[in-house]
Amino acid sequence: MSKPRVIVTRRWHPEVEQVLTERYDTQLNQDDHSMSVAELQDALRSADAVLPTVCDKVTAEVLGADNIRAKILGSNGVGFNHIDLDAAKAAGLTVTNTPEVLTDCTADLALTLLLGIARRAGEGERHLRSGEWTGWRPTHMMGTSVTGKTLGLIGMGRIARAVAARAAHGFNMKIIFHDPFPPRDEDIAGLNASQCASPEEVFAQADFVSLHCPGGKDTYHLIGAEAFKSMKPGAFLINTARGDVIDEAALVEALESGEIAGAGLDVFEREPAVTAALLQMENVLLLPHLGSATMETRKAMGMRVVENIEAFFNGETPRDKLV
Ligand code: DGY
Repeated sequence: MSKPRVIVTRRWHPEVEQVLTERYDTQLNQDDHSMSVAELQDALRSADAVLPTVCDKVTAEVLGADNIRAKILGSNGVGFNHIDLDAAKAAGLTVTNTPEVLTDCTADLALTLLLGIARRAGEGERHLRSGEWTGWRPTHMMGTSVTGKTLGLIGMGRIARAVAARAAHGFNMKIIFHDPFPPRDEDIAGLNASQCASPEEVFAQADFVSLHCPGGKDTYHLIGAEAFKSMKPGAFLINTARGDVIDEAALVEALESGEIAGAGLDVFEREPAVTAALLQMENVLLLPHLGSATMETRKAMGMRVVENIEAFFNGETPRDKLV
């Protein structure tokens, strides 16, 4: 029996590419270019499984291609707002993602941003590299202490809870959160976390607000002008979730007016484009969507995709089936 044909839309961890190549009739994206609508449609027409990532927009237009052969989209990433799930289902496709394996890595990066922006790490590094540093002095680049402050989490899923654990146990932070689908008590045991009835209740109390909600229409611009007005003047905003949860124009205004003190961002509203004003500001720490970017995690994510498509081709329900 011939091997299933698999198309991978971007370069993946080399060991995962090797496994895919050994087990399947695999087409890799050798030059790692971003695939066009037409290329994604061709992939759907010519493969049994297409393996996209969070940067591929698998829209209703893409999924509306005629003569689709593919039966599964094994997406490499936990977020799935880049895939039109209804259109995928209508086209007869199973869709899977990669939860759990990137939880710790992404939580680590949220703390990197939180500590980095509070302690002015990006700004300090730029200062030092520019040759402007004249030496230690008592008033030089004073930041904001993190230990003992209040961390407000919007969303209390796996990644938020991992952030909470680090913040509570590592930095003695008080944890508050809002989630329309609150976690079970046992999932937040030991975090000493208090639930708030609304995001506004979180904004009013938090010294640091960290976003951990999914992207998509329900959370689009959740953090806009009104939200910034409700935040404490010295607050910092951290985003490792999805860029369009924040209205970037409103963020720029809030930063310029001093409504909030700073922001640490790993994701952007029009990624990979970044609102130009943010690039000029010192009170923001900006990273290029690195939440899950460690060798270990990217390998684990890729292997989770392999596990999902393997189950599918064996006639089983993949463990991370979304539709
Ligand atoms: C995801 O998995 O959704 C991240 O954004 C990339 O790892």
